[in-house]
Amino acid sequence: MNDKIKMGVVGLRFGDAVISGQIIQGIGHPYVQLCGVTDLNAAVARSRSERYNVPHFATYDDMLADKSIEAVGIFTPPAGRADMVRRAILARKHVMTTKPFELDAGAALSVLNEARNIKRVVHMNSPSPLLPPDWQQVETWRRRYKLGRPIAANFSTWASYREEADGSWMDDPKRCPAAPIFRIGIYSVNDMVRLMGPAASVQVTTSRLFTGRPTPDNAQLTLRFKNGAIGGIFASFCINDGNFYADAVIVNFENGTIYINAQPPVGPSDHIQLHLVMADGKAAHTMDRVTIPLAQRAGTYQWDNFYHALREGTSQDTLTPLQVAEGIAIVEAMYRAEASGMAETVADPEQLAMASAVA
Ligand SMILES: NC(=O)c1ccc[n+]([C@@H]2O[C@H](COP(=O)([O-])OP(=O)(O)OC[C@H]3O[C@@H](n4cnc5c(N)ncnc54)[C@H](O)[C@@H]3O)[C@@H](O)[C@H]2O)c1
Repeated sequence: MNDKIKMGVVGLRFGDAVISGQIIQGIGHPYVQLCGVTDLNAAVARSRSERYNVPHFATYDDMLADKSIEAVGIFTPPAGRADMVRRAILARKHVMTTKPFELDAGAALSVLNEARNIKRVVHMNSPSPLLPPDWQQVETWRRRYKLGRPIAANFSTWASYREEADGSWMDDPKRCPAAPIFRIGIYSVNDMVRLMGPAASVQVTTSRLFTGRPTPDNAQLTLRFKNGAIGGIFASFCINDGNFYADAVIVNFENGTIYINAQPPVGPSDHIQLHLVMADGKAAHTMDRVTIPLAQRAGTYQWDNFYHALREGTSQDTLTPLQVAEGIAIVEAMYRAEASGMAETVADPEQLAMASAVA
């Protein structure tokens, strides 16, 4: 493709992995060309500029002032991301960014609505603009087999980290609430909102088993959705079974249960399996099964869609700004629940956005 999107990248820790693994080569390479980098750490910015043979900018605003840059990849920490996005869209840039989009649901909703109004594209990996193939499959089965209303969903994701405190946002319960949920369970929060709609209340249980950080490394979030469904998200950095980021999901509907990646691994695989189990008389019966390439699972960056949205000016996005903000409202309530040890009500992002506009 000779009209790749000219992108500058800000935030060069995880952002550096995105550059090397997705832009210089990988799934973003056909669609995006790296045209500059910046980071608060000038030495890091200089070294990446040399490594990738692109200019480095002294500040983010300097990058935004460069007319040749059409889009920015924002890979800074989540707190204050809405402001970074606003500065970008006011400079007429499009944005690709990462999870968690923000910590402030009202600020997130306002900036995503502003971007729509001025026709700037703002995409992120989770929640992704288009429903990823695993969740498309769930929706297909839901309709085809008349599964009825969702009753419950349980998500588990784990890894093995043995981290030390480093003074970063990951050490701060305000900027990283119920840490494993915020850091790796956030995909599940976003997927649940898409499946169940807005949540009414949350409760959280956490523990610290191996971590040297002051934040937990083992956590369970329970959600009650406005439609009456119940969700559970377990996320942990404590489990060394070789099956990292296993991300197993069980979704119960009135008339059937869907298992996503919810069986022991039989060895390394670049696919995940989905099974639909329904009643056959009095017995359980696997009604349908499919495999989905791991690379297309929920949480991947939809660079192709980003390209089409920019170049063709027509967005096929099914994600709404409100759905993004509803996930963040859950995170806000999770922060309060971690501090109080009680069930906490999930706020309505539209009311939060209105309240901060009036203030
Ligand atoms: N999608 C994924 O798989 C994945 C994986 C890891 C991290 N992340 C996400 O990426 C984001 C960043 O995570 P991280 O671990 O790299 O954080 P980090 O705090 O380790 O690094 C952030 C970098 O951004 C720079 N930075 C911060 N504010 C800046 C500003 N205003 N201008 C220029 N540079 C600035 C910092 O100097 C630092 O180098 C988080 O939202 C995190 O959840 C996503």
